[in-house]
Amino acid sequence: MRISTTSAEIRSQLKALRGHRSIAFVPTMGCLHAGHISLIEKARTLADIVIVSVYVNPLQFGANEDLDTYPRSFDADARACADANVDFLFHPATLYPEHGPNISLKTTKLSDCLCGAARAGHFDGVVTVVNILFNIVQPDIAVFGEKDWQQLAIIRCMVSDLHMPIEIVGGGIVREADGLAMSSRNRYLSDSERTRALAISRALTAMQQAARDGETDAEALKTRARNILQNAAVQPEYIDIRHAITLKEEQQLKHQPTRAFIAARVGKTRLIDNVAINTPLSCDGQ
Ligand code: PAF
Repeated sequence: MRISTTSAEIRSQLKALRGHRSIAFVPTMGCLHAGHISLIEKARTLADIVIVSVYVNPLQFGANEDLDTYPRSFDADARACADANVDFLFHPATLYPEHGPNISLKTTKLSDCLCGAARAGHFDGVVTVVNILFNIVQPDIAVFGEKDWQQLAIIRCMVSDLHMPIEIVGGGIVREADGLAMSSRNRYLSDSERTRALAISRALTAMQQAARDGETDAEALKTRARNILQNAAVQPEYIDIRHAITLKEEQQLKHQPTRAFIAARVGKTRLIDNVAINTPLSCDGQ
């Protein structure tokens, strides 16, 4: 595995490969866990060369968010990447000019709901850095986790709107044995908070099951989830049921691909998770 820290370095390393080896890219902010490794493994099945980036992007953190304390563990990340047969690891010190970006991208749709509603500018920061990373790496395929479903939807939209010749692939959510979705932020949780946090996946599974059993009223499903969170003293930021692609809010579930989304604070830690919601009426098996 080759590690590079500047865009010039990674570009020159990739130059000889372009055109005759396909490249799959997994952008990350490091602190890699089994969820990231599953994205790397997926990338490995899709292309000849796998590149991972580790960069904590300041542009996607709000003023009161956890940029300074966001966990950083580059040595462990590098070992995990080597063990997962990553070919190139890109770890830039910064991707922006000294005094911040002169140019950035702005999301106009899909970002005014779910996490975007509470984290102003977050997705602008995400698409700006992903655009920069795509320009540097120029992958054929890029793999993003479905836990950040809204991010995945927005990146698909960016690639389509900006005519980027990159295939975006989603990687399924990896969960701990007890259902908690893997996240770099799980390490902030105390033991008792971690137990309470399980209410999030329980609430999503309850919505999923009720829909499978025939409940089509979104508000009734959300009420179930709200009660489960309340019983665990978990404060939801949102409980939403939305179209999987347009992210439009759904009131009645019919044949459309639909997902349930929760963001909640457990102690000081903000966690997100989502699941596919299929009713007996749904025509696809997402
Ligand atoms: O999902 C993440 O880890 C980040 O948002 C990403 C896509 C690497 C951009 O910084």
